[in-house]
Amino acid sequence: MDNIRNFVIIAHVDHGKSTLADRLLELTSSVEAKKMRPQFLDSMDLEQERGITIKMHPVMMLWHHGGLIEPEGSSEPERPERSEGQAMMHYKNYTLNLIDTPGHVDFNYEVSRSLAAVEGAVLLVDATKGIQAQTIGNLELAKQQGLVIIPVINKIDLPQARIEQTEKEIVDLLKIDASEIIKVSGKDGTNVEKILEAVVAKVPSPKMVGNPTSAQLRALIFDSKFDAFKGVIAFVRVFDGEIKKGENIYLIQGKTSSEVKEVGIFKPDLSPVESLGEGQIGYIATGIKESGKVRVGDTITNFQFSNSNFQNVTALPGYKEPQPKVFLSIFPEDANDFELLKVGLEKLKLTDASLQFKPESKESLGRGFQCGFLGLLHAEIISERLKREYGLGLVLSAPSVLYKIFTQAEGKERFIYTSADWPEGGVFASQELWARLQILTPVNYLGQVMELIKGMEAKHQKTDYLGSEKTELIYETPLREIISKNFYDKLKSVTQGFASMSYEILDWRPANLVKLDVLILGKKEEALSRIIPEKDAQSEGKKVVEKLKDNLPPQLFSVPLQAAIGGKIIARETLRSKGKDVIAPLYGGDYTRKKKLLEIQKKGKKELKAKGEIRIPSQVFIKMLQ
Ligand code: GTP
Repeated sequence: MDNIRNFVIIAHVDHGKSTLADRLLELTSSVEAKKMRPQFLDSMDLEQERGITIKMHPVMMLWHHGGLIEPEGSSEPERPERSEGQAMMHYKNYTLNLIDTPGHVDFNYEVSRSLAAVEGAVLLVDATKGIQAQTIGNLELAKQQGLVIIPVINKIDLPQARIEQTEKEIVDLLKIDASEIIKVSGKDGTNVEKILEAVVAKVPSPKMVGNPTSAQLRALIFDSKFDAFKGVIAFVRVFDGEIKKGENIYLIQGKTSSEVKEVGIFKPDLSPVESLGEGQIGYIATGIKESGKVRVGDTITNFQFSNSNFQNVTALPGYKEPQPKVFLSIFPEDANDFELLKVGLEKLKLTDASLQFKPESKESLGRGFQCGFLGLLHAEIISERLKREYGLGLVLSAPSVLYKIFTQAEGKERFIYTSADWPEGGVFASQELWARLQILTPVNYLGQVMELIKGMEAKHQKTDYLGSEKTELIYETPLREIISKNFYDKLKSVTQGFASMSYEILDWRPANLVKLDVLILGKKEEALSRIIPEKDAQSEGKKVVEKLKDNLPPQLFSVPLQAAIGGKIIARETLRSKGKDVIAPLYGGDYTRKKKLLEIQKKGKKELKAKGEIRIPSQVFIKMLQ
């Protein structure tokens, strides 16, 4: 194990992780030159196009300290070699397992799992942007795992690089000497080799955590993908023991057993090997066909006979179900596409266990699904993939967060995912999730950021300075303020993209929530209902009826548009009738003829109105939900 180093690259979104990973792959000849393309580890179309990492992609590299080694048969360690100041470098040849991680806050859970699988983290900071919110967020996660941190400043080739300021920010944040920071260009490769040298010198080799004499397998699942033939392929870090093809495995949290179809390593394509042992990162093709049973964070153990006591093996720490935080409904634009939408969601779920959905139907929009996501970007990516990969036209409802209510009748708590879950009889008490919001902004945008926060429900906790030009603000705020009001986009827009944010969930706190209903011609339109704090009811109600008035097509009679809470009307607008001018064809004269025509029209309108129906085009719903 002494010649293995497991590490991740952590950074804020776009600071250059994938590009740096490309250089590392080249330096270690891990990918054939003719196959190399930019951001190699981002394999999804959407990732390539938008330049964001959605899924992490582990890779194994072979590195000879002082130069690259011949890939074939080279993992044999050479005789220990120790020189002054390099106490940890016993071997010349190293197996370096790198996990590239997503930088966006929505995928934090994935980052935390990959951190649990390694011993070191390269903390990458873009020299043009300096430290950003997610840099700190990910750093805190890495510190909690006790990882060795290797600070690196990237993009030093750019003329606008602010190397000195970024260096000061890192020194302030990590309380280290500036000489420890490596300055690189992931683009042209400058100094990239120094990162590998630092990984070898500073990151400890993996240590076995269990009892060496009874080393039963314990492998932590940090990611998975689905294969139609081999079942779920679990990406694992082996902490104790060894695993081979054909062995029986048991998933401790998933309470499922199976026979291993294949084990292997990431080169970066999946390459089968004889066995995976302690300290190694690789994959186990589990043969399990239900993706829900193989979850990130679970521990895999093995057993030889059905009576062995594998059920007593302790799970590795840190298992947590990914909790969706954002909920929205997805309907097919064409009602006939419902089945296709179902197939699409089911297939995406196979590779993305955090996606949740259940069927729902709305009179105005037909049948669709209520879906749960990790965040707004996650929701956007899934809906984009449904559109592209399945050619679906979709109607999305406004995103909402999870609420908790207590009804007097039942006297127990209930979760509310969308307004349709709100009980008819109203609620006795309600609660909502609060989050710790961290904002990092250049000092010269502080005014704009404060102005934005003034309009929010938020409690100030702390203000800190990083270097001389950056401020860190910490607030506590309801999650609703971040999600439903799209705080991320607003922050980016008031600071021209310079500020960044990150948040973590705190706890449930009392809220004063109500359900705002919308009535068109006296009839409740469930698809337009929403849950809001009571204090916002008046202004929201007014806004929604005004927007409706602007978007509804003219009708032959006037239509009342109302906003109501529990049957009480709180705002009202009228869509004026745009009746046909029935007397226009009559030139001048005959008063009785005119009167007769107007009376026929009045009667017709009255009858229509009495029927109480107007047709609302689905486009109106789409506009209202945007
Ligand atoms: P996420 O995975 O979405 O978090 O992004 P990332 O951190 O992987 O960043 P990525 O490698 O996609 O790089 C973001 C942008 O910065 C791309 O346009 C890269 O070409 C550019 N970039 C990365 N490293 C360098 C560098 O050293 N110099 C210059 N000039 N550009 C760079």
